[in-house]
Formats: sequence, structure tokens, C-alpha cells
Amino acid sequence: MSYNLLKGKRGLIFGALNEMSIAWKVAEKAHEEGAIFTLSNTPVAMRLGEVDQLATKCATIVIPADATSVADLEKLISKSVEHLGGKLDFILHSIGMSPNVRKGIPYDDINYENFLKTLDISALSFHKVLQVARKQDAINEWGSVVALSYVAAQRTLDSYNDMADAKALLESIARSFGYIYGNEKNVRINTISQSPTITTAGSGVKGIETLIDFTERMSPLGNATAEECADYCIALFSDLTRKVTMQNLFHDGGFSSMGMSKKALNQYDKSFKPCPEKGEK
Ligand SMILES: NC(=O)c1ccc[n+]([C@@H]2O[C@H](COP(=O)([O-])OP(=O)(O)OC[C@H]3O[C@@H](n4cnc5c(N)ncnc54)[C@H](O)[C@@H]3O)[C@@H](O)[C@H]2O)c1
Repeated sequence: MSYNLLKGKRGLIFGALNEMSIAWKVAEKAHEEGAIFTLSNTPVAMRLGEVDQLATKCATIVIPADATSVADLEKLISKSVEHLGGKLDFILHSIGMSPNVRKGIPYDDINYENFLKTLDISALSFHKVLQVARKQDAINEWGSVVALSYVAAQRTLDSYNDMADAKALLESIARSFGYIYGNEKNVRINTISQSPTITTAGSGVKGIETLIDFTERMSPLGNATAEECADYCIALFSDLTRKVTMQNLFHDGGFSSMGMSKKALNQYDKSFKPCPEKGEK
């Protein structure tokens, strides 16, 4: 169901790689809700991925950019404004990558060059996007910028590695820049802390399937899907959330407030037998 929540709004969506990507779902929903927007990803991702299909579906274009390159971002943002015929109302930063995670290098024997790349791609790129947009005055008053985060910024999760540090930095950038951009132009900046989700980036996390089972048992509302995350992004891009800024917003079915649930505890109770008719409560 669509509500025309983004009718007349212009945006820029980073990070749609394939149908599983959270950014892909956000693009589909933004299109349904009446927005026009450009898509962006790295030239490599564009060659590997299926983002052209998404562009056709959303009647838009894909502009290549490495989000760690200020020069690329300058071209991307000015081209987006030109293509869309006006300043932006929303930006989605849905970008993450850790060479250490990808190469299986553990946190206590980390490669520092890789570590810097993780921080640059997954966190500093958010600052770069905001700084370039502000210098070009490319975001309308009351515009909304959202980046995607994970609870590993606050709590330690096995094997999440240097991405935890990147997410902590990402969330801090949302606060620091949210103060400046809010004061100046009423632009709001938030992060959404999403449940573990099976995507290309998500699958890079060791033991993701087990983690998803655990968080599903722990969360009273269950894990949030990529589609549900997209709904939340749309709400934050809309005019219904104009005074929400500088927040890290958990979108995780309640997981982040839990200590232990019965469903998770049952996993450790050797005498526990699930009732096949009623399921596990
Ligand atoms: N999947 C999960 O479990 C989960 C949970 C919480 C938060 N997140 C976050 O959601 C965001 C989107 O990830 P996803 O799960 O949809 O996976 P995904 O693999 O579909 O998306 C990650 C995107 O980052 C892009 N990217 C990597 N390096 C880039 C660069 N230098 N410049 C521009 N783009 C670059 C990739 O091409 C890809 O499109 C990430 O920030 C991720 O950390 C994911």
C-alpha cells in the first residue's frame, strides 16, 4: 500500500547492489511513494550487480561513484540535482565493507591499512557525502539524511570485527553533522540500527544464520526484514518525522532492549521440549 508520502520529493540512494540489498527495497518503496531519485554505486558494483534493472523499474539513472572519493561525490551530487531538476530532499547512505572481515583477519591481529579502508568506506564516506552536499547547498530545508547502522556500535558481537568501530563512528557523525546542518538548514540526520539481514554485506558476517536465529528468539517482535527497514526509511524521509534528528533509531523488533528471552533460554534448557502444536513461547 502506498500513501504518497514522498510525492514531489527528490532523493539520492546509495548502495543498491541486488534485490537483497536494503537500498534496493528503499528505492522500490520511494518510487511507490511518489519520489524521484538517482541511484549510485561503485563502478565495480555496477558491473557485478543488477542495479540497471532497478533504475529501469524506478525510471531513473545510476551514477557511478566511489563514496570514499570526494571528487566522485562532487560530480554525483551536482549531476543528481541537475538530473532531478532541483535540490535533494533525502539521501540514503547504505554502504558498508570491511576488507578485514572479507579476508577473515581477526580483530586482535588486524591489518591497519584494511582498518582505515573499513572506516573510510563504512563511516567517513557518510561525512564526505554530507560535507559535499552542504558545500553545494544541495539539500532542501527540512531534508532528511539516513545511514544504516548495527547494534555492534553499542554491544560487542562475536566476529563483527572492525565494522563495530565503523558503525560507532557512523552514528557519531550523524550527531555531529546533525547539529551543524540542523542549525543551518533544518536538515535532519539519523542512523537506523537494523536487525541482521541476509544481504551480500550481511552474509559476510561469520555465523550470520545462527545470529539471525538468536536475534529472532530474543526480539519480542522478531527480526526486522529489509522491506520493513525500507518502510522505516520512507517514514524518516517523509514530512511526518520533521523533528527527529541526531538519533540512532533501533529497528530490531526490540532486540537492543533485551537481556534474555524465554525462547532463547529454551535453547540452553536440556529438559525443554517444544510443543509442536503451540510452537515455542
Ligand atoms: N545486512 C545486515 O545484516 C545489516 C544490518 C545492519 C546494518 N546493515 C548496513 O546496511 C547497509 C547496506 O548493506 P546491505 O546489508 O544492504 O548489503 P549490500 O551488500 O547489499 O550493500 C552494501 C553496499 O555498499 C556498497 N559499497 C561498498 N563499498 C562502497 C564504496 N566505496 N562506495 C560506494 N558504495 C560502496 C556496495 O556496492 C553495496 O551496494 C550497510 O551499511 C550495512 O552495514 C546491514
